[in-house]
Amino acid sequence: MRNKYFTRVVLFLFILHVVSCQEEETILLPAGLQYAPNTISLTAGESVSSSLPSLTGTPPFTFTITTSPDAGGAITIGADGIIQVSSQIKAGNYTVNVRVSNKGGNVDFNGIYIVNVKDPDKPPSKLTYTPASVEVQEGKAFTGSAPVTEGTPPFTFSLVSKPANSGITIDNSGIISATALVTAGTYEIDVTVTNSVGSVSFPKALTLKVSATVAPPVSFATEIKPILQARCVSCHSEFSDYTSVKNKVDVILNRVQREPTAAGFMPQGGNPLTQAQIDLIKKWKAEGLAQ
Ligand code: HEC
Repeated sequence: MRNKYFTRVVLFLFILHVVSCQEEETILLPAGLQYAPNTISLTAGESVSSSLPSLTGTPPFTFTITTSPDAGGAITIGADGIIQVSSQIKAGNYTVNVRVSNKGGNVDFNGIYIVNVKDPDKPPSKLTYTPASVEVQEGKAFTGSAPVTEGTPPFTFSLVSKPANSGITIDNSGIISATALVTAGTYEIDVTVTNSVGSVSFPKALTLKVSATVAPPVSFATEIKPILQARCVSCHSEFSDYTSVKNKVDVILNRVQREPTAAGFMPQGGNPLTQAQIDLIKKWKAEGLAQ
């Protein structure tokens, strides 16, 4: 009796084993998961879906998804294996890992899909030069520094100078330059910044003050003495001496500006000094009688 029962159980288990083995043989693990294309690029705020993936193995399948970095639930997978990116997605580059399961087991397809999300482009919102006002000597070329900008690059730059001057230019980085030929004056420079979203003008972004070259004062030794030497010293030996001329500058100017026919005109018996020479002596006096 006991033996008979045992035989039945063994027989039953044997059949069960054969049946289950046959079943196992027909189940193929998930394989060859593929999305075409396998990369998607979008702007934060948009939502997109992948294509229907190709996959072999024995259905039914279930899909689970993880991403790196974590997408906070904004990347999900449907029962058909389609990957969905919701409008909640934040900017970033996400690598998607999909686990496909069936009766045969789980198969991981890591890095099977890439989601690249960028922030929407922002218009230029700031342009700052430091310093915002620059002084340059006339005759010297100037190259400024790159501005601080806000908005989504790449930018292009253009400028309008008031007053206009073709010697003032701006390059691709927003650096303003002026050639040595820019004449003295104050130039207020408006800069327009353009990117994919639009153009924004920043009035008076930079003020360029080009100051006139300060000439050294008229000098006795190099400019006045040679005139007196040529025209006066033959009769006035003291006029080769700085102090003597300095003390007599007013009377000298008086004499040389008289009519040549008038009494006391100097140089006595000679041609008058040129107006330029007289003006130079006046300038020498006005600038402080430099030695
Ligand atoms: C050919 C000689 C001669 C030449 C050149 C001459 N002077 Fe005279 N200068 C005289 C004589 C002579 C006097 C004195 C008569 C008078 O006061 O007019 C005089 C007087 C002066 C006086 C007034 C006296 C004084 O020393 O304060 C001044 C100033 C003067 N000369 C300046 C000049 C200057 C400047 C030049 C050159 C641009 C010049 N002279 C060239 C002969 C000359």
